[in-house]
Amino acid sequence: MNHDLIIIGGGPGGYVCAIRAAQLGLNVAIVEVEDRLGGTCARVGCIPSKAMLESSHKYTELKHGLTDHGIKLGKVDLDLSAMLKRKDDIVKTLTGGVDMLMKKNKITRYLGLGSFVSRVDNQVTITVTPPDKKEKPATLTAPRVIIATGSKPAPLRGVEIDGKNIGTSTEALAYDKVPGHLVVIGGGYIGMELGSVWLRLGAKVTIVEYLDRIFPGLDSELAADAHKLFIKQGFTFVLGAKVIGAKSTKDGAVVEIEGKDRKPDSIKCDKVLLAVGRAPNTAGLNVEAVGLKLDDRGKVPVNEQFETSVPGIYAIGDVIRGPMLAHKAEHEGIAVAEQMVTGYSHINYDAIPAVVYTHPELAGVGKTEDDLKAANIPYKKGIFHFRANGRARTLGDTDGKVKM
Ligand code: NAI
Repeated sequence: MNHDLIIIGGGPGGYVCAIRAAQLGLNVAIVEVEDRLGGTCARVGCIPSKAMLESSHKYTELKHGLTDHGIKLGKVDLDLSAMLKRKDDIVKTLTGGVDMLMKKNKITRYLGLGSFVSRVDNQVTITVTPPDKKEKPATLTAPRVIIATGSKPAPLRGVEIDGKNIGTSTEALAYDKVPGHLVVIGGGYIGMELGSVWLRLGAKVTIVEYLDRIFPGLDSELAADAHKLFIKQGFTFVLGAKVIGAKSTKDGAVVEIEGKDRKPDSIKCDKVLLAVGRAPNTAGLNVEAVGLKLDDRGKVPVNEQFETSVPGIYAIGDVIRGPMLAHKAEHEGIAVAEQMVTGYSHINYDAIPAVVYTHPELAGVGKTEDDLKAANIPYKKGIFHFRANGRARTLGDTDGKVKM
């Protein structure tokens, strides 16, 4: 089949790009290896984690938080399977919605793994191999192909993922019972969000972090404030500790750590969540067939217009440079489609908001104070504490502050 544009990857980058390109008049194909469109964000990332964060927040509020308001409750019980079902239903509805958007915009959807075959006479050829391999691979051609294949959890040497006791965020979104003790490797976005879910539902949660702080990359003052609040909430932190191994045992797992100022140690637990970042996902793409080279971190190098070094082949989202955030990928999807058709696009990479959906949430946009210091840019700083804010007092949510 011939198309004007083929997009490989049906996540927030790919599907948003497909819609914009179709709106601008292109005949668009979208290739996705998973049954459901929507990518990591909708299937096993942002959406299900936010569903679990909301449910677990309500649970903990009812269990511990309403006496001050003068509200007395009877016994509050957890029905974990109902909570998980609610999350799964939200995922089904939203991913089904993406399917509908594809149909409405007359975008052709191919189910299977997209691989480059060749680029001859300005036409790129790819094959799409269905996941069950029962059907024959489809062959597609187009003058333009966009790689929007996203990212996958980064592995860690010595940590053996078995999907049972040692897993990634995908497993931690679906534990069928609350772990007695959960060890999270990595005090970043995923570790603190999913750690919060299981802490609220009753687990002991230990965060093992290589650095001497959590949330590297976020404003260090806000990260330090959050750290103190998380300790109050019941998290255990082991900072400055490098995980050098983790193995499943008969009834749980053991995590081995070492560090500059600590003796090698091991932590026994029921479950391990590995959350040490994400790696670009280019498995099976066969980029060599079109002469495309990845950089030394496995990312696809692109210029400001998202063009790779191979004419007609573009890339957006987690697979290229920049923060691995769904809304960044979406904007790149819109920009690359507009660039192709109208010759103009613009993204202000200094204005991408970031949010960690813990309680309290951390949110920021623009340069952090640390960025300004590092760049020797003079600045004025203003801070207002929520404890002095009337609305925050009435809500009973006085932790935290606003910093300009
Ligand atoms: P992250 O980069 O936020 O945090 C990973 C942490 O692991 C870092 O603090 C790092 O120092 C630590 N680490 C690395 N190696 C280690 C070792 N050997 N032992 C102990 N600690 C080690 O990555 P995370 O949390 O996995 O998230 C991945 C991506 O997903 C992020 O880039 C984030 O942008 C995105 N994400 C965004 C969310 C949001 O917008 N709310 C929610 C969840 C994920």
